[in-house]
Amino acid sequence: MSAALHTPLVDLLGCRYPIVQTAMGWVARPELVAASCNAGAFGFLAAASLRAEEVGPAIDRVRELTDQPFGVNFHMFQPGAAKIVDTVIAAGVRAVSFGRGPDKAMVRRFRDAGIVCMPTVGAVRHAQKMVSIGVDAITIQGGEGGGHTGFVPTTLLLPQVLDAVKVPVVAAGGFFDGRGLVAALAYGAAGVAMGTRFLMTRDCPVPEPTKTRYTAAGLDDIVLTTRLDGLQHRLIRNEVLAGFEHAGPLGLLVGALRNALRLKRLTGAKLGELVEAARGMQREGGLSFGQALMAANSPVLIERSMIQGRPSEGVMSTGQVAGILDDLPSCEELVARIVSEAEGRLRELCGG
Ligand SMILES: Cc1cc2nc3c(=O)[nH]c(=O)nc-3n(C[C@H](O)[C@H](O)[C@H](O)COP(=O)(O)O)c2cc1C
Repeated sequence: MSAALHTPLVDLLGCRYPIVQTAMGWVARPELVAASCNAGAFGFLAAASLRAEEVGPAIDRVRELTDQPFGVNFHMFQPGAAKIVDTVIAAGVRAVSFGRGPDKAMVRRFRDAGIVCMPTVGAVRHAQKMVSIGVDAITIQGGEGGGHTGFVPTTLLLPQVLDAVKVPVVAAGGFFDGRGLVAALAYGAAGVAMGTRFLMTRDCPVPEPTKTRYTAAGLDDIVLTTRLDGLQHRLIRNEVLAGFEHAGPLGLLVGALRNALRLKRLTGAKLGELVEAARGMQREGGLSFGQALMAANSPVLIERSMIQGRPSEGVMSTGQVAGILDDLPSCEELVARIVSEAEGRLRELCGG
């Protein structure tokens, strides 16, 4: 392997290549995480869509499928977050990633347990804040990335964060091939992280009818909306999204309440915990309480596409990159292809 691909990230995470499979709610389940890790990448298990008591068994399941190190993603506003922190520390996974709400004490607990802290950020000030509370590395997610996302494109956010912090920085948002990996390394990143590209693999346990919507989508089918849950969310256009876009304020509120009740059933959370989660999102995202109530829409509707395989009745979070991808390789094929393309580009750039 080219020495350029042996970056500090590879040593920090214990993977073969500087490629991360990011956490995706209802998508980054044990099968995908293990397949990514077995292929030489580093996978994050999505625990933000699990009940606290499901996290330990999911970690055990990953360990049945791979002997490679992997990480867990969650957020501090989810019901049972404190229990998830305890479970992850007891399990001794290699790394954690989190988007919202971590504090210095929590980061200290993980680091004392030898667990790498690698949050994802969408703005330079968040990167600085995370470094100030002691994280080991940062993943930046540029605006073209999947799920909740910001406005600043990867090509601007990456150099901005690289100039602002001293820890290894991983680039996410729009990556899918070896050219992108070499470009990120040329900026000074320690590797790339990909969500949508790993969702669009044969190993990803998302049902075929939903994956077919991803392979069929063009760039024009992918939109950014705040109508779903009050935050900027990138989705594949479909019937459900059209409904949100045409609904009035009352319709949105009634829909949000209905989904909050469904979420309560789905997660076993108490109503008070869901209200607390909404309040946390409200504080963090600068939202009104009505908008924060809509937070329940995303998990309920994503579950319908990603677990139930009913993409016309749910929503599909995605990066823009789905608009130019139309294949479903295995993780092994994908990672091997990216590494081989990257090595080819590096040879050409270095004149031989
Ligand atoms: C279907 C889907 C679900 C996601 N769910 C989460 C999540 O639960 N937690 C999180 O931190 N990021 C989540 N993300 C964001 C990804 O982890 C990642 O940062 C993003 O997909 C990177 O951009 P890319 O899709 O262009 O590779 C999700 C993305 C997608 C596509």
